[in-house]
Amino acid sequence: MNRRINAVDLSGRVAVVTGGAQGIGLAVARRLLSSGARVAIWDLDKAAMEAAIQELSALGEARAFWCDQARIEAVDEAATETESAFDAVDLLVNNAGIAGPAAPLVEYDPNAWQQIVDIDLNGVFYCCRRLVPNMIERNYGRIVNVASVAGKEGNPNAAAYSSAKAGVLALTKSLGKELASHDIAVNALTPSPARTRILDQLTEAQVAYMLGKVPRGRFVEVEEAAAMVAFMLSDENSFTTGATFDLSGGRTTY
Ligand SMILES: NC(=O)c1ccc[n+]([C@@H]2O[C@H](COP(=O)([O-])OP(=O)(O)OC[C@H]3O[C@@H](n4cnc5c(N)ncnc54)[C@H](O)[C@@H]3O)[C@@H](O)[C@H]2O)c1
Repeated sequence: MNRRINAVDLSGRVAVVTGGAQGIGLAVARRLLSSGARVAIWDLDKAAMEAAIQELSALGEARAFWCDQARIEAVDEAATETESAFDAVDLLVNNAGIAGPAAPLVEYDPNAWQQIVDIDLNGVFYCCRRLVPNMIERNYGRIVNVASVAGKEGNPNAAAYSSAKAGVLALTKSLGKELASHDIAVNALTPSPARTRILDQLTEAQVAYMLGKVPRGRFVEVEEAAAMVAFMLSDENSFTTGATFDLSGGRTTY
């Protein structure tokens, strides 16, 4: 689609995009670089990270840091490396995530459940825990937590993912309130399905089920997600905090 793009000025800002090597995170990284930010992508897929950095470097100052966000030490290490390469982090996009296997709750593999919660929920906690103190010190920060419409609605055969994403929404509400007296905004995003690699983890029936619930009748484009994130990270997003920005094409209207 040929849309006009609104300029968002993020010059002078340092951004971290977790899971920035592909999919929604890569689209966000492109958009932030085009808006003038310096961008660190944190990811664990080395091949995708290399390809992403080659592309992103043409748009501005971008670097990749290996990080398994399910591990608190790995998050702390990536943060320290990012701060010494760039500077303090102003903008944090907690985007990395997995869907995990599709199965009814009573048959769900407890190890898979644990892994989904470790990455999709605990990882967000680890990143915020490490980067927020510096934002408080400098009285500036913008945080976007990429959740999912599944966290609002629940999807069958995806209880672990839905629960972790609901947890991210609650984390966002709590942290938003905690930081509301600072110039720090913490908000969540709830996309409906986008055509990215994460869909490979789902069955065709699951994807059809989810898409069938979207009144827009199509996948959300990763550029549409990036556009909303760019606004959420801007100086101008200075009042709304602890909130959920819906990106579900009408599936949820709250
Ligand atoms: N695509 C969709 O349909 C959709 C819908 C709603 C929400 N989301 C959410 O959007 C976010 C991005 O998803 P996507 O569709 O771009 O998926 P994707 O699979 O294309 O990208 C996810 C990225 O996260 C990285 N990652 C996975 N585990 C990680 C870990 N432990 N530490 C660091 N990085 C890790 C992957 O290597 C990958 O680069 C996810 O949180 C996902 O739950 C996606």
